[in-house]
This record gives sequence, C-alpha cells and structure tokens, in this order.
Amino acid sequence: MNTVIWKELSKELRDGVTEKGHPFRYCTMATVGLERMPRLRTVVLRKVSDNLDLSIYTDQRSKKIMHIKENNRVSLLFYHPEKMVQIKIEGLAGIHTDPKTLEKHWNKIKPGGRKDYTTSEAPGSDILDPHAVEYLEDNNYFCMVEIEPFKIEYLKLQQPGHLRIKYSKIDHSWKSEFLVP
Ligand SMILES: Cc1cc2nc3c(=O)[nH]c(=O)nc-3n(C[C@H](O)[C@H](O)[C@H](O)COP(=O)(O)O)c2cc1C
Repeated sequence: MNTVIWKELSKELRDGVTEKGHPFRYCTMATVGLERMPRLRTVVLRKVSDNLDLSIYTDQRSKKIMHIKENNRVSLLFYHPEKMVQIKIEGLAGIHTDPKTLEKHWNKIKPGGRKDYTTSEAPGSDILDPHAVEYLEDNNYFCMVEIEPFKIEYLKLQQPGHLRIKYSKIDHSWKSEFLVP
C-alpha cells in the first residue's frame, strides 16, 4: 500500500471541505440510471469521514437521486489545476435518512442556501420565467448522499514521468497498485 500518496490525497479531499477556494470543494459526480445514459454534474463536497466516505447535499427530487435509487454505483472526479492532480473515485452511494443527521446539517445551512432545497416545483421542471421560481416556507427537500469509495485512482502529471496509482478496497482494507500513466 502506497501510504504517502494515500495520506496526500486524503488530506487534499479533507481540505476541499474546509479550505476556502480549494479546488476539491467542487467535484463532478456521475450517475447512470436505468436508461443507461451517464449523467454528470458539479456538486459541492460537504463532508469527508475518517474512512473517506464523501457526502454531498442535494434535493430529494433531483435526477441524481432517482439514478442512485436505480443504481447506486457512482463516480466522482476531482482536479487540482496547480498540482496537476486528478482523483477519480468509484463508490456506492447511499441516501441519508437519519432525521437527526439531516437536521444537524440543515441547521448549518444559511437561509440563502436553503433555497436550493425548497423550490415549489422539482428541480429540472420546465418554467416559463426564470424569475418566477417559487419557494416553500414550511417544507424542504434537503437530503444528503454519502458515497463509500471502493476504488480511488490518483494521477499526477509531472516530469520526467507521470504518477498513476490505483487504490482498491478489498475486504475492508485498501491496497494499491502503480499503473502505466
Ligand atoms: C458550482 C456549482 C455547485 C453545485 N453544487 C451542487 C450541490 O452541491 N448539490 C446539488 O445537488 N447540485 C449542485 N449544483 C447543481 C448541479 O450541478 C446540477 O445542475 C443539479 O444538481 C441537477 O442535477 P441532476 O438533475 O443531474 O440531479 C451545483 C452547480 C454548480 C455550477
């Protein structure tokens, strides 16, 4: 197991949550539902647990939630432009249902941010006037998705040779292999 790079990538992911302006604050999340068309979107990384489970916030009515219910295998893509580091994560997504956890996170969201989870119509619904979006006063569709990684691929572009490492979780422990970049 290559622990030096593992520690580096774990730290960078954690910094993505806590450090303002860190490029890992945003990642691209891919899901594939029953219609088998990969769907990508930018999301904010909200939490990284001790064992590297990653959490995001979203609206329960969004297409990504429908996809996760149909197929919980998802991918996340992170890119650090200054360090020329790319991290690809494959994992199993779960939708948080514990009301206490949801309430704890909901209470941390500022009023402006809460609007993302309180539109009267579901996200992605057709609307004639973009200024006419209505918001619910007393209800919300806030939810959290937690991704448990089973494969993490690290790639650093550098001279004289790039570095590519694959980490795989097998029987609850991680092992690593170098790959041809
Ligand atoms: C900078 C940025 C950050 C975003 N963060 C989130 C997020 O944390 N959660 C989320 O559900 N959507 C987020 N979005 C919107 C998604 O990219 C996407 O448009 C939306 O979630 C609908 O995706 P879906 O229909 O595939 O579910 C963000 C968009 C941008 C541009």
